[in-house]
Order: sequence, then structure tokens, then C-alpha cells
Amino acid sequence: MDVINISKSEQVTQSNSANDIPLIELENLEKQYLMGNVPVDALCGVNLTVNHGEFLAILGPSGSGKSTMLNLIGALDKPSKGVVKIDGVNLTTLNNSQLARIRQRIGFVFQFFNLIPRLNARESVELPLSIQGISRSERRKKAEHLLETVGLKDRIEHKPAELSGGERQRVAIARALANEPNFLLLDEPTGKIDSKTAKDLMTLISNLNKEEGVTMIMITHDERIAKYASRQIHLLDGKIVKEVSK
Ligand SMILES: Nc1ncnc2c1ncn2[C@@H]1O[C@H](COP(=O)(O)OP(=O)(O)OP(=O)(O)O)[C@@H](O)[C@H]1O
Ligand SMILES: [Mg+2]
Repeated sequence: MDVINISKSEQVTQSNSANDIPLIELENLEKQYLMGNVPVDALCGVNLTVNHGEFLAILGPSGSGKSTMLNLIGALDKPSKGVVKIDGVNLTTLNNSQLARIRQRIGFVFQFFNLIPRLNARESVELPLSIQGISRSERRKKAEHLLETVGLKDRIEHKPAELSGGERQRVAIARALANEPNFLLLDEPTGKIDSKTAKDLMTLISNLNKEEGVTMIMITHDERIAKYASRQIHLLDGKIVKEVSK
């Protein structure tokens, strides 16, 4: 299958062909939120390297800083201190349009699906493609191919309300893959679905990682879900307190 071409030369986040530069580097990363005048330390000096092709699970109790970390990796927020590098590029040196371009090269999948209710599955997947100015017939072909990849060939015309939780999450994954991302960021992708469906979804994510080489960075608080990853980090109070590799 050639749905995911992870090296797209004209992009800022161009994959390093020799794969010698890590995909993601976090250096002494700190994030402090202000609640009124009260500072909340969400991340307190996180160091992490993720290489191309890895499948990393981020574990930790509620409030430990998992989503904060994922948002910083996804260039959705800025650190208070420290550095996020993607393919060796320090995000703090980029302007807003360069950051927007970086975000386009990242696939986001969240717990609550985030699908637009009036769009059917094909239209949802086509949406990021239309922003890129790809022709209508190309978009359609690509969206249908991606939906087939995630096992939704027979659900192409279904709107979110006509899909199960697991199917909605598959649409979200197909949509996240549409821009041929360098990596996927998944925040509790199985949080709102039953355990059998979650297992099927994890098999899909695992196959995309192993067979298509898509790097996965996934938050979960479920140890059984984390087992699909090749490496786990555990956060507590904004720090990495444990790391486990298979
Ligand atoms: N926008 C914000 N403003 C203020 N405080 C915030 C904000 N976002 C998160 N926090 C605080 O930062 C800390 C880390 O939050 P974060 O959302 O990263 O946790 P999490 O590990 O993802 O938790 P959960 O498992 O519940 O999703 C928490 O104490 C939280 O209350
Ligand atoms: Mg969270």
C-alpha cells in the first residue's frame, strides 16, 4: 500500500532520509499555566527523543501533563522554557505560517473524535485535502482509499451519527492520515470506546506503524492499550518517572 508517503521533500518537516536526525527532541521542556495569578506547573523539565518509526505510549495519572506534552509536540502550544525540535528544527525559531505548515504534517487523533456532524466519512477525510488544493476527483479517490485502509469501505457515505464509536475513530484516523503526516499524535484514542472495539483499533494503529512506518505517539492511561507500543514513558507531576522499552 502506498497511502502514506512520509517523505515530502518540499515541506519544512521533511523526513530525514538517512533517519539519523531524531523525529522529535524535547529538551528541558517546561510548561507553566497561569490560573488567574496562580501558576500551575504542568511540565517540569522533560527530556525525550523519539526516532522515526517508533510507537511511543505516554502513560500517567490525570493531571500529570500528558496532553500538555502532546500539544507542545504538535505545535499547538508554546513551552514556557526549553525546546521542541521536529526533524532537528527548533519550533521556537519559527513564525506562525511556518508553524502552521508543521501542523499540517502532523496527524491528530483525539478522544472525542472531533468529526463534523454534517459531513459523511468521505467528506471528513476529503476536508484536509481540499485545503491543499487537490482536485475533486483526486480527493475522492484518496479519501476512499484511506477509508478502505481503515476498514470502512462500506461506511463511506455514513455521517458520524450513523457510525459506532470505533468507526468514528477510524474516520478520524483516516482523516489524520490524509495529509501524509510525518507522525500521528493520539490523545486517548480508545478512551470512549468499548474494549473489543479498542482492541481492533489498536491492531489498526499497530499495523499502520509496522507496515506503513508511521510514527505513533499515543497517550493512554490503560496499561493494556500501552502494550501495543514499542516503548512507554510514564509521567508524574510533569516529569518522566519511568521508561520501558520492549
Ligand atoms: N489551559 C490550562 N490552564 C491552566 N491549567 C491547565 C491548563 N491545561 C492543563 N492545566 C493543568 O496542567 C496540568 C496538566 O494537565 P494535562 O491536561 O496535561 O494533564 P493530563 O495528564 O493530560 O490529564 P488527563 O489524563 O486528565 O487528560 C493539570 O494540573 C491541569 O489542571
Ligand atoms: Mg489529557
